Amino acid sequence: MNIVILAAGMGKRMHSALPKVLHPLAGKPLLAHVIDTARSLSPDTLCVIYGHGGAAVPDAFKGADIAFAIQDPQLGTGHAVVQALPHLDDRCPTLILYGDVPLTSAVTLQRLLDVAERDKLAILTVHLDSPVGYGRIVREDGKIVRIVEQKDADEAERAIREVNSGIMVAPTVRLRQWLTNLSNDNAQGEYYLTDIVAQAVADGVPVVAAQPDAAWETLGVNSKVQLAELERIFQGEIAAALLEQGVTLADPARIDVRGKILCGGDVSIDVNCVFEGLVTLEDDVSIGAHCVIKNAHIGRGVRIKPFCHIEEATIGAGSVIGPYARLRPGTELAEDVHIGNFVEIKNSQIAAHSKANHLAYVGDATVGSRVNIGAGTITCNYDGVNKFRTVIEDDVFIGSDSQLIAPVTVGKGATLGAGTTLSKNAPAGKLTISRAGQVTIESWQRPIKIKK
Ligand code: UD1
Ligand code: MG
Repeated sequence: MNIVILAAGMGKRMHSALPKVLHPLAGKPLLAHVIDTARSLSPDTLCVIYGHGGAAVPDAFKGADIAFAIQDPQLGTGHAVVQALPHLDDRCPTLILYGDVPLTSAVTLQRLLDVAERDKLAILTVHLDSPVGYGRIVREDGKIVRIVEQKDADEAERAIREVNSGIMVAPTVRLRQWLTNLSNDNAQGEYYLTDIVAQAVADGVPVVAAQPDAAWETLGVNSKVQLAELERIFQGEIAAALLEQGVTLADPARIDVRGKILCGGDVSIDVNCVFEGLVTLEDDVSIGAHCVIKNAHIGRGVRIKPFCHIEEATIGAGSVIGPYARLRPGTELAEDVHIGNFVEIKNSQIAAHSKANHLAYVGDATVGSRVNIGAGTITCNYDGVNKFRTVIEDDVFIGSDSQLIAPVTVGKGATLGAGTTLSKNAPAGKLTISRAGQVTIESWQRPIKIKK
């Protein structure tokens, strides 16, 4: 089939400089949801109509399979579809989607395509308790005869609760012909796509309908209120699927998945965690409250304590992270690594059984096994221009409040005394210390306040 996605509208009620279809839902632009669903149906042609916001829309979606057609000015939904006509293959039907209706499932769309067959006009309709604002489906003797827009409807028509979702399938040759006959003689002075329905009836083309599994699949975004409502619906669906699969969620209303989360068995997630990109949690992982985790692989049995920020990182089995740890891109922890509060790790590999339990910065470092990084340890990896690596070999003990001025190596089994500023390599197996000698000034007296 051909798929046309209408995305030229301006979205005035969003009160935003960003074109409406680029506003994110679950971390992904509205239009990206629609394009992904469209692609899952393997269309022969895929055409996106853009207009408001100019090149920002095509620029956001690279892909050889998408034809972009501009609609300028925007004279209505029928006029929008006209812009797609040069791209459509007459041999197959055309499915019309809206760029601001992000959650229609592929299953629902396939149902609509099935009832449309090759020669019918099929409309995705839904029954709403409050149909205000939507085009109403007018039926006679049970058969659809036309769609009337809210602004053009009389009182009896406004009472109809079956509404047009906007999503339709039409035989393409017929569609071309119907679109050339549209007029803008209506309340909004627009060329309505919905007017093709009465033409189909006049031409004896059967008009059929299908319904989505859930009414929210047809909800569109016209305002930030509706965007927030859809976000909650979508997150609720993700949470329900996780629970269904056996993940423990402390509160399914307080998790946000902006991407994909793959969970093993007996995973548990406390409240207010945000997952972005692709996050994998292996068996028996537990995530404490208030963590933000992006593009990370978390190994079996890992415990992430509350308030951690983890991005582009791999964490080995059995490790314990946080509370308040920050793992930045390029962090690779082997098994049973302990990273405690206020420790930041960046672009570093840390081998098994090593620990940095308090207040440290480990950047551009290669750390061996069974290393103990004391509180307040800093790798000085940056001279203001260049970055350098620090190598800490197996079984090293780094005393608290040490600075390792990279490039520098701490040899296997070495110990650094507390407060060491290491500017040359520390030999293996030895104690290295740089510290001013301790003195006590016998004659010193604490100053006292002189009263006037
Ligand atoms: C449209 C339908 C209405 C339906 C409702 C469902 C028409 C005439 N009406 O009304 O029956 O119940 O959707 O939400 O079709 N667009 C363009 N170019 C334009 C105008 C719109 O690309 O010139 C795009 C918008 O970006 C949006 C979609 O078409 O993605 C719908 O436009 P909108 O103005 O929201 O139509 P409604 O008045 O809501
Ligand atoms: Mg609308």
